Amino acid sequence: MKALVLSGGAGTRLRPITHTSAKQLVPVANKPVLFYGLESIRDAGITDVGIIVGETAEEVKAAVGDGSALGIKATYIPQDAPKGLAHAVLIAKDFLGNEPFVMYLGDNFLLGGITDLVNDFSKGNAEAQILLTKVPNPKQFGIAVLDDKGNVKTLVEKPKDPPSDLALVGVYMFRPKIHDAVRAIKPSGRGELEITDAIQWLVDQGHTVKPHLVTGYWKDTGRLEDMLECNRAVLETLDASNEGTIDSESKLIGRVVIEKGAEIIRSTVSGPAIIGKNTKLIDTYVGPYTSIYNDCLLEKNEIENSIILENTSIRNVGRIEGSLVGKEVEISGTSDQPKAHKLMLGDHSKVVISK
Ligand code: DAU
Repeated sequence: MKALVLSGGAGTRLRPITHTSAKQLVPVANKPVLFYGLESIRDAGITDVGIIVGETAEEVKAAVGDGSALGIKATYIPQDAPKGLAHAVLIAKDFLGNEPFVMYLGDNFLLGGITDLVNDFSKGNAEAQILLTKVPNPKQFGIAVLDDKGNVKTLVEKPKDPPSDLALVGVYMFRPKIHDAVRAIKPSGRGELEITDAIQWLVDQGHTVKPHLVTGYWKDTGRLEDMLECNRAVLETLDASNEGTIDSESKLIGRVVIEKGAEIIRSTVSGPAIIGKNTKLIDTYVGPYTSIYNDCLLEKNEIENSIILENTSIRNVGRIEGSLVGKEVEISGTSDQPKAHKLMLGDHSKVVISK
């Protein structure tokens, strides 16, 4: 069995982070979201992994390399534009050959792995297996309707008027018939070749599409709130560890991970939280559900429920909550006059200033 991981796309909902970075590489508990998927695939015994890459190809390649550090063999498949999930299958035909495969959306996070699902699919003879979960906001997903026997009847992508609240999770398993399906369908109203349409084609042709209800934790990390929620869920699963240095005036409370070379000076970290490699905290309070990535400097602030990317410095700004801050950002407070906010923000930035 092979795997096809989708790490192209535009990531418009996570701008401005995605102006410069791949959304699949935003770290959750200091590990790129994409790596959780690749590790689940490896844990299911699949090592031959095709990775669809778009505009951010170089960044994804730099992070994943040949895949050996993650225990996989990565083959990159360039996609000229985000033309849809079924388009990704279409252009991956040479890589996939006639083997069954798992398709994994690189921005999806599924706690608990996919090993049982892959085993289940391998033993059975369904042409496709889809994962479904109940969601409160079905307009934002592909949605499935099951008949009274529990078989898949219809699938519809981001319906205006959702016929059910069963969303398609971004992990799919296919046998080779899917290649006929992706060739048979036409682009949707939004101009994409939709995988939901390709699966509907399989159903219409009388092939078995097996639904599997996911009850565990799943998140599409496409939006800020989802990213923060996912970060909270993963931080809850970490065990405390310390590979850094903590001075006698600092305090660690609860489950806190301090990575190699991090320095905690006159600061308090209340877990669950993770402080990245070579990051320095000075006179700072880090509250629960915070992930601070590598090489950051935080001085004289309070921060909680946030994700900070690498090489960022935050000094003298008071309290920060519910935030996602990109790489190499500088945020600082001053008491100089005039008393005004001075901003240099990239396109699509979002700032909320408390008064
Ligand atoms: O997260 C689950 C949902 O994922 C499903 O419920 C939907 O049926 C499915 O269409 C998909 O919806 P999204 O709108 O969330 O898809 P998105 O455009 O975010 O793309 C998902 C991943 O695939 C993301 O990592 C980017 C990548 N991608 C996307 C497209 C359209 C590609 O690599 N190439 C593409 O052409």
